[in-house]
Amino acid sequence: MSGTTPASTLITNIGELMTQDLEHRVLTDAAIVFEGERISWIGSRQDAPAADEKVDAEGRAVLPGWVDSHSHLVFAGDRTAEFEARMAGQSYSAGGIAVTTGATRSVSDDELSRLVRDRVKEAVSQGTTYLESKTGYGLDVDNEARSARIAAAEVDEVTYLGAHLVPAGWDPEEYTDLVCGAMLDAVLPHVRWADVFCERGAFTEDQSRRVLTAARNAGLGLRVHGNQLGEGPGVALAVEFAAASVDHVNYLSDKDIAALAETWTGWDAATGQGARGTVATCLPACDLSTRQPLAPGRELIDAGVQIALAANCNPGTSYTTSVAFCVTTAVLQMHLSVHEAVRAATYGGALALGRESGNDVDGERAVGSLAVGHRADLHMLKAPSATHLAYRPGVPLTHSVWRAGVRAFQDNSKGATAKR
Ligand code: NIG
Repeated sequence: MSGTTPASTLITNIGELMTQDLEHRVLTDAAIVFEGERISWIGSRQDAPAADEKVDAEGRAVLPGWVDSHSHLVFAGDRTAEFEARMAGQSYSAGGIAVTTGATRSVSDDELSRLVRDRVKEAVSQGTTYLESKTGYGLDVDNEARSARIAAAEVDEVTYLGAHLVPAGWDPEEYTDLVCGAMLDAVLPHVRWADVFCERGAFTEDQSRRVLTAARNAGLGLRVHGNQLGEGPGVALAVEFAAASVDHVNYLSDKDIAALAETWTGWDAATGQGARGTVATCLPACDLSTRQPLAPGRELIDAGVQIALAANCNPGTSYTTSVAFCVTTAVLQMHLSVHEAVRAATYGGALALGRESGNDVDGERAVGSLAVGHRADLHMLKAPSATHLAYRPGVPLTHSVWRAGVRAFQDNSKGATAKR
C-alpha cells in the first residue's frame, strides 16, 4: 500500500468485532481506534472518539490478524510430482525434504529473499499479520545460516530447524553433532527458536534430546515437530523440555494428551498469568495434504490444552499460506466452534510464540488479540461475522488488513454478503 499512515485511525460501523481478548469479547455495532501501531480504544460505535482517519466498515466483521506460528517459507522449487504420487496412494516420508534442499541451495540470496517475501505478501493478503518461519532446507552450516538470515529480514519470528533431515552421505550422529555445534553457532544471531523433526525417518528420541539440550543451552526457545506420522516420543520430549509448542500432534495417546494438559495447570486462562504450558499446534492443511488423520483439536481443548492452528506453508506437506482454510477445516472437520478456531489461529498462535501478552510501556506489544495497548493487527472480512469463514468455505473473505497499524492489504470488491 502506498501513501502516508495517519496518526490515528478509527474503524467504525463494525458489524462484529471478535476481540479474542482475555474476556473473549465479541462486540456488535462496534468501533476500534489505533494510534500508530497501538490500539488505543475499543467500544460501541456511538461512543467512539474522533481520529485523523475514519474507516467505515459498513457492517463487516473485524478480528485479529492471523498469527501463523508454523511455516517453512525459506525454500525454492516445488514438489508437484511428489504430491501427485501421494494423491495416487503413496504415503508421505521425510525423504522429500532432500529435494527441496537441493533446489534451495541452488538459488541466489536475492532469489531466495524474493521467494520468501512473495510468500509473506500472499499470507498478508489473506489476513496474516504475524508470521513465524523455520529454516530447514539448507542443512549445511552456510545454507542454514543463509536461510536464518533471510528469514529474519522477512518474518517476525525465526526458528532454527537444522534438525529437519539427515542429509544423504552423513552419519546421523555426526550430523546431529553439527546441528548442535557449528551450525547452531552460525544461525544464533538470527533466530529466537529451535525445533527438531522427531519422527521416524528424521531424528530419533536421543538425537532430538541432544538438539533440544544444545538449543536450550544456547538460550533459544524450543518447539518440536512431533507425533506427525505415528505415535512417538515427540510430545513427551516437548513436555520434558517445557517447549513452547509441539506441532502436528496427529497421533496422540491418552497419556500424551494428559501430559500436555498437565503443562497448563499453572496458567490462568482468565488472566493470562502464570507459567505457559506447551501449545499443541494443529496443522489441518498439512493433515489433508498428507492424508493423515486430523489432529484431535477437540479432545485437546476439552482436556484443557491450549491449541494453535497454523498453515505450515512448505512445498512438501502443505503448500498453502491460507490460515482461513485451516480455520474452516477446524470448524467443519475438527469440531471446533468458530470462536475456538479463530482463537487458535490468533491468540493460540501468539501463545505458541510467547507473544500473547505485551508491555504497553516499552512497546513490546501483544499480538493475536484486540485490546488497548496491543498491536493494531486487524483483519476485516467481506462478511458480517466470522462465522462466514466456515459457512462459506473456500471463498476469499479478506477485505482489509492492518499490520502494526499500517494498512497492508485492501480488496475493493465488496463480496456478495458484506452486510447482514
Ligand atoms: O512440517 N514435518 C516436517 N516438516 C514439514 C514438511 C517438510 C517437507 O516435507 O518438505 C512439515 O510438514
